[in-house]
Amino acid sequence: TLKYIKMMEKKLPELSQAVFEVNSVFATEPVLNQFKAKIVEKLSTLLNVAEDLAYESLEVPNKSINGDFAFPIPRLKLPGNPVQIAKELQQKIKTDEYILKVTAFGPFLNFFINKNLLTQKLLPQILTQDTKYGNNYDGVGKTALVEYSSPNIAKPFHFGHIRSTIIGNFVKNVLNATGWHTVSINYLGDWGKQYGLLAVGFEKYGDEELLQKDPIKHLFDVYVQINKDGEEKDENGNSEVHDSARRYFKKMEDGDADALKLWQRFRDMSITKYREVYGRLNIMFDIYSGESQYSYEQCKEVLDELQGKNLLVPSDGALIVDLTEKNLGTAVIGKSDGSLLYLSRDIAAAISRHEIYNFDKLYYVVASQQNHHFKQLFTILEEMGKPWVKNCEHINFGMILDMSTRRGNVVFLEELLDATQESMHEVMKKNEEKYNQIENPDLVADTVGLSAIMIQDMSSRRNKDYSFVWSRMLSFEGDTGPYLQYAHSRLRSIERKAEEAGIVIPEDLVVNFNLLVEPQAVLLMNFLAKFPEVVKEVSKSFEPCGVVQYCFELCHNFSSTYEQLYVLNQEKELAVARLALYKSARITLGNGLRLLGIM
Ligand code: ARG
Repeated sequence: TLKYIKMMEKKLPELSQAVFEVNSVFATEPVLNQFKAKIVEKLSTLLNVAEDLAYESLEVPNKSINGDFAFPIPRLKLPGNPVQIAKELQQKIKTDEYILKVTAFGPFLNFFINKNLLTQKLLPQILTQDTKYGNNYDGVGKTALVEYSSPNIAKPFHFGHIRSTIIGNFVKNVLNATGWHTVSINYLGDWGKQYGLLAVGFEKYGDEELLQKDPIKHLFDVYVQINKDGEEKDENGNSEVHDSARRYFKKMEDGDADALKLWQRFRDMSITKYREVYGRLNIMFDIYSGESQYSYEQCKEVLDELQGKNLLVPSDGALIVDLTEKNLGTAVIGKSDGSLLYLSRDIAAAISRHEIYNFDKLYYVVASQQNHHFKQLFTILEEMGKPWVKNCEHINFGMILDMSTRRGNVVFLEELLDATQESMHEVMKKNEEKYNQIENPDLVADTVGLSAIMIQDMSSRRNKDYSFVWSRMLSFEGDTGPYLQYAHSRLRSIERKAEEAGIVIPEDLVVNFNLLVEPQAVLLMNFLAKFPEVVKEVSKSFEPCGVVQYCFELCHNFSSTYEQLYVLNQEKELAVARLALYKSARITLGNGLRLLGIM
């Protein structure tokens, strides 16, 4: 808001440089906001309006013939006829170098800004801010925990974990771009009776060599086998396998060193492997935590607290919290055999995270199937009297349908990545001439393949289910990840070729930007100016599609501009000005792609 801009302008020198560097935020007000501030200034000299309200009310008209900004007079709730007021104001408002024209359009005032001035301010801003263009400092000094991916050891890495990984990484990137300090947490499913089952299975089917080679795959195989054995019941309906699994897990909960040693090995080896696969996606976690960190001892305190607050009710031997009044059913906290559950551990984890980090926000990036779980979790924390629960948020998402490769259903992230790489490789080979020019085709196939998966995942609103359509996803045409990367490399090559031809942007950025007058150039430039607003928006909605759509539109804009406005073989001054425009487009696109995690 306007007040905020003014306040930050005053404060800027005070806030230490270090804060900004740590948060990688480059603190300069987006250029379009400077124009908005001018409009508000004009309105407030004529009317008695709350500046903040005026600033927030400014809209961007759908059609460019209606100007760059529109102000809806009714928002001011002034006495009199808004259409009349608009007409009167139009007469009174003075134009200047920022605002060239004002027209009244029904109850709206339409403002036409000076595009030349915009260019002169914008391009130098983008060129100097470079990888920080679009960032803001909304979150400076605040800490957000972002929990995502969170697969279960010895179980398939299913769509829920894949989407959580991709979207969670985006959430973290957006927070960092808006000044937040973040802590990324991978909360592994690494505890519970099933790990007793796994240990029992390993005694029977474990193979040290296979375990070393691919722990995730081998533990999964063992788990599947022992589960089959577990289906056999004796005449009383008991399963020997499950009984020993329960006994084993009991030992784990009791802290038995031997039992824990084996489990710890499985966990460590799995994490090493996960790290490697996440590395291919360029994703890193600050912390590998997991349900195991909240074993019986830790949860016991939670139980006592719940008990103390009269929230625990015995029911059929189990312990529950009754949430029926809130339409959330009953939440089982402990079972009759004394064992605790997923929900109990989540309560303990949230409390401990708050104690350790005193976070300003805690985000859980988890599939919509767990909506109910998180509603229960947050409600219980609220009933326990934790005021900070209002800062906990479940960022949810829909399902991936038909996620199968030629090798059958995808179970592991690595298999998905390999299959994509392979398919991408085949697509690339179809153009033999180009293929032969590529230095490291495996790496390129991997990188471009990854962008295909990720863009497909982030193209629609999070909550929509979508199907994996391989042929579409891997295409270089249409709105796909490969297309975005292709456009980015075309922009890069413009810069390379210009450099070879001796066309350079001077370091002091004294460039004759007034030469960028063609409608396509103005359109592209106008579009680049909107990027900071996009970042701001997605930092509230956490909808990656906002950035994806922006990137596609930017590429379309660039393509139609580049068809007509060349850099090479032009007057020197013009060539430099156009180069500055394309370089700014490349920087902006790159920043968008980085937020999405594909650069
Ligand atoms: N491991 C869980 C699963 O695969 C996801 C964990 C989500 N996070 C949480 N705090 N409950 O379903």
